[in-house]
Amino acid sequence: MKRFWIGVLILIVVCLAGFVAYAWKPAIDPIEPPQRVSFDQALIEKGAVLASVGNCTACHTKPGGKSFAGGLAVPTPFGTIYSTNITPDAATGIGRWSEAAFSRAMREGVERDGNHLYPAFPFDHFTLVSDEDNKALYAYLMTRHAVENRPPANELPFPLNLRFVLAGWKLLFFNKGAYREDAAQSAEWNRGAYLVEGLGHCGACHTPRNALGAERKGAHLAGGEAEGWDAFALNASSSAPIPWTHDSLFAYLRQGWHSDHGVANGPMAEVTGNLGRLPDSDISAIATYLASRMGEPTPERAAAAEDTRKKLSIDQGGTPIPASATAGSPTSRGGAIYQAACATCHDGSRPQPFGGIDFHLSSTIAAGDPQNAINVVLFGLPAASGRESPIMPGFAAMLTDDQVADLLGYLREAYAQKPAWADAKAKIADTRSGKYRVSVRPSDGIERGPDNVGAKD
Ligand code: HEC
Ligand code: HEC
Ligand code: HEC
Repeated sequence: MKRFWIGVLILIVVCLAGFVAYAWKPAIDPIEPPQRVSFDQALIEKGAVLASVGNCTACHTKPGGKSFAGGLAVPTPFGTIYSTNITPDAATGIGRWSEAAFSRAMREGVERDGNHLYPAFPFDHFTLVSDEDNKALYAYLMTRHAVENRPPANELPFPLNLRFVLAGWKLLFFNKGAYREDAAQSAEWNRGAYLVEGLGHCGACHTPRNALGAERKGAHLAGGEAEGWDAFALNASSSAPIPWTHDSLFAYLRQGWHSDHGVANGPMAEVTGNLGRLPDSDISAIATYLASRMGEPTPERAAAAEDTRKKLSIDQGGTPIPASATAGSPTSRGGAIYQAACATCHDGSRPQPFGGIDFHLSSTIAAGDPQNAINVVLFGLPAASGRESPIMPGFAAMLTDDQVADLLGYLREAYAQKPAWADAKAKIADTRSGKYRVSVRPSDGIERGPDNVGAKD
């Protein structure tokens, strides 16, 4: 028996030692901040596009703040994490980081000084990024304006405030390594997978997470949550009434909307705006990969889509007839509100993207979760500054929770042919109270780069 316990003890010590060896990362020596001229201009420009795909500005810039200077509060179920300053400032940014230190952060989620980084920084996706692309990203970031800014300390409870603990998280959930080509697939498919799974980190929003904040295995792209919005499923469980195709995905990602699906709203507007900087060939590759993840629609879905098209009375020539002429007569309370407050814009008679979508086509109304419909109805879609964008007034001050619930119930039944959302009323109240910290943004979705792209100094 004594021997047994000694054995157990030795095993524990060996495991602990192994874990410490795994968890411990050396610091990488600081360097003198490199000169701008030491970077090739073409490499910097390549890095600018890659930074758009990785949405680096979105997370590393706080509203009204300088690009890449950090300090944006990233809310997580565990507490608030602040993004860091990734400008080349020597004291508060990454000015003293060598390319090796930068690449290690992207590939392993480790700071220059050896500390582990929180997965609020999507290194679990960025690990797939190639050495060449990291080189270009580094060249781009190191040639931005250096901004002195020290972001606030993270607000996390013990023991999550200990970065050492993150090594355990990594052990459980993190697979390190560059993208490996799938030889059975085309070059275009592989390019799309590389962008979607890696730098694009689409799954960071579109995949549900487990209790420890890691993306759930086996539920890849099955629909997740982002900034108080529902990021719809991008696999076979997509809620789109007309199934997505390569061509509609290409158009939606290229221009931020598609006539069969409407406009990219909420956090997705920023994503489509950023993707706008990619060449067509890359957008097409993403569309090819996503279309393959979604697969061919089942016969039932294809039939339902056919039905939807008939309802819209879109003939082969593509002439739409206003849905108000074909939708059932709205006698319910919700229907009356729709007629009075929504129909002028949403009856399908005004062209997309600036006219409201016909709800027969809306993933938002067909989705399993009412969150996005609630967000849009309560807070509306604010105007983009300085350019035409889809605009909708918010109805928070005009409609009570009961009225919004009646309205959404009507839209579900009349347009998605689905029962009203069971949890709508509670969610409306919680959304109104600010519980989900919904980000309200314009649906501009068109190129919107950081303020110092192309800065020459
Ligand atoms: C979803 C939000 C998000 C996105 C997108 C994002 N980051 Fe971050 N990043 C963070 C957060 C939050 C941290 C701080 C994590 C921590 O404190 O552990 C961070 C940390 C970093 C660090 C470590 C810096 C330091 O001083 O420790 C680097 C380098 C970095 N990010 C680069 C990038 C690059 C390059 C991109 C785009 C390709 C990018 N990030 C995109 C949220 C993001
Ligand atoms: C910051 C979070 C976030 C990231 C990152 C993100 N998405 Fe989205 N996405 C969303 C949200 C939220 C929606 C719902 C938008 C709406 O309501 O109009 C959405 C919607 C979509 C839709 C439309 C789905 C439908 O049925 O209407 C597609 C397609 C899509 N995203 C593709 C992508 C791709 C490809 C990427 C990676 C390049 C990506 N998304 C990255 C949050 C995100
Ligand atoms: C002044 C015109 C206008 C009015 C009035 C209006 N909307 Fe909108 N709505 C829009 C525009 C433009 C969009 C963006 C188009 C899109 O998202 O495809 C939009 C988008 C939406 C969406 C997101 C649809 C999707 O799938 O992307 C919902 C849900 C919605 N509106 C509901 C309503 C409801 C409910 C009312 C009435 C209470 C209403 N709207 C009134 C113009 C309007």
